[in-house]
Amino acid sequence: MSTSAQIGVTGLAVMGRNLARNFARNGYAVAVHNRTPSRTRELVRDFGDEGDFVPAESPEEFVAALERPRRLIIMVKAGDPTDAVIQEFAPLLEPGDMIIDGGNAHFADTRRRERELRERGIHFVGTGISGGEEGALHGPSIMPGGSTESYASLGPMLEKISAKAADGAPCVTHCGPDGAGHFVKMVHNGIEYADMQLIGEAYQLLRDVAGYSPAQIAEIFRTWNTGRLDSYLIEITAEVLAHVDARTGKPFVDVVLDRAEQKGTGRWTVQIALDLGVPVSGIAEAVFARSLSGHAELRAASRELAGPVAQPMGEKAAAAFADQVEQALYASKIVSYTQGFHEITAGSEEYGWNVDPGAVSSIWRGGCIIRAAFLDRIRAAYDTRPDLPSLLADKGFAEEIAAAQDDWRAVLVAAVQQGVPTPGFSAALAYYDALRADRLPAALTQGQRDYFGAHTYRRTDVEGSFHTLWGQDRSEVEA
Ligand SMILES: NC(=O)c1ccc[n+]([C@@H]2O[C@H](COP(=O)([O-])OP(=O)(O)OC[C@H]3O[C@@H](n4cnc5c(N)ncnc54)[C@H](OP(=O)(O)O)[C@@H]3O)[C@@H](O)[C@H]2O)c1
Repeated sequence: MSTSAQIGVTGLAVMGRNLARNFARNGYAVAVHNRTPSRTRELVRDFGDEGDFVPAESPEEFVAALERPRRLIIMVKAGDPTDAVIQEFAPLLEPGDMIIDGGNAHFADTRRRERELRERGIHFVGTGISGGEEGALHGPSIMPGGSTESYASLGPMLEKISAKAADGAPCVTHCGPDGAGHFVKMVHNGIEYADMQLIGEAYQLLRDVAGYSPAQIAEIFRTWNTGRLDSYLIEITAEVLAHVDARTGKPFVDVVLDRAEQKGTGRWTVQIALDLGVPVSGIAEAVFARSLSGHAELRAASRELAGPVAQPMGEKAAAAFADQVEQALYASKIVSYTQGFHEITAGSEEYGWNVDPGAVSSIWRGGCIIRAAFLDRIRAAYDTRPDLPSLLADKGFAEEIAAAQDDWRAVLVAAVQQGVPTPGFSAALAYYDALRADRLPAALTQGQRDYFGAHTYRRTDVEGSFHTLWGQDRSEVEA
């Protein structure tokens, strides 16, 4: 056992424990600490043979075990517990030491903590970690923020424990200063919400409109997973749909209550997008769809409302429809990522982070929940044109959407006619059509605003702001 650990982890619940084991398995001496010491003892008892662990029962002992400059990872509940732990450890640290917060913090909290600790000469590295407990152990996708100096010290270690993409590249990049890492992680989770919603809509269409069973849909997803939709989420969807409930012999998906949870990060992605004025309608619909699913009483009270009941189609038509759903899913997915990357670039501009969207797409290729072959395409798009204003401006994506759009529209027609809710597919298509529209009804909105609130408008033909005297002779005056 070493007396000088290269890195320390405090907070040894499922994520912290597995992250500590990952460092130890990669040859690092790891100091381990938890508020409740029994967790520390259990870790060393159960996994002590995996590497070099330095258990510590007190904060003082923990800090003393770390080589300088100290690298101290916090893996505790986000929010007040993180502040409590920082307050406990910061007085024990010296200038140049690093506190790495690997929890799911709100980026604004990370900015505040970074500022406060910087004044004391301590580097605060807000770090997004994706991949759940398996990722933490075998290699997550890691999104660190913080100073360039701290990344120089920490980066090689993170690269070693991170997931590796198919081309061997480590799934970690320095996202940018202060809260950039947690911001990128937040948008990652928002995109994850959208991906899951779109997959859910595809499932429901295949079930209710095409008439396939969950087992048959599992096969369809398996096939899709060999093509351009190849991704972790499609892969596990097939597994979940193929699973049969041991208790009832029914498809597992039919015995699970249809009320989805929504934790902080998806909601934050939408809230921040509203603040930044970025239209992330697909992510928003995914968050709202989960909220709606949870309103059991509202749904029960509305069940008798009029509307069509989907009539499953014949076998041949169903196969053709499944192909159309694949097109709709793929096109909607392109839009979700377009919106997510728009939020990342807008956040980067607002806070001066200089986030490289190509590097972000690259580190999402392995370890994280949204890992997918598709991310190689996004990276290639940014490689070709680093200042790409929108993924839809990439020639390859634009051509794919052009090829998919007839089927995308046909799927939505079927969904609307048969009464199957598809908020994600619909929002994605509405976004696409709004972007390509020659004229939007925003002109009428401006007219209304000028009518009731004298908010003024600008003209297409003359510079300046104008107001129409609606209550008088309707003449126009310059505002
Ligand atoms: N689970 C995931 O898949 C996942 C994925 C990515 C990121 N994360 C993030 O990673 C972090 C850790 O997640 P987790 O699921 O492993 O654990 P968790 O359930 O979020 O947190 C439990 C840990 O926090 C500690 N803790 C809570 N309040 C504390 C306080 N006031 N002072 C000191 N320690 C305190 C607990 O210590 P005691 O043992 O003493 O109670 C325990 O070690 C969270 O921020 C989470 O959001 C989780």
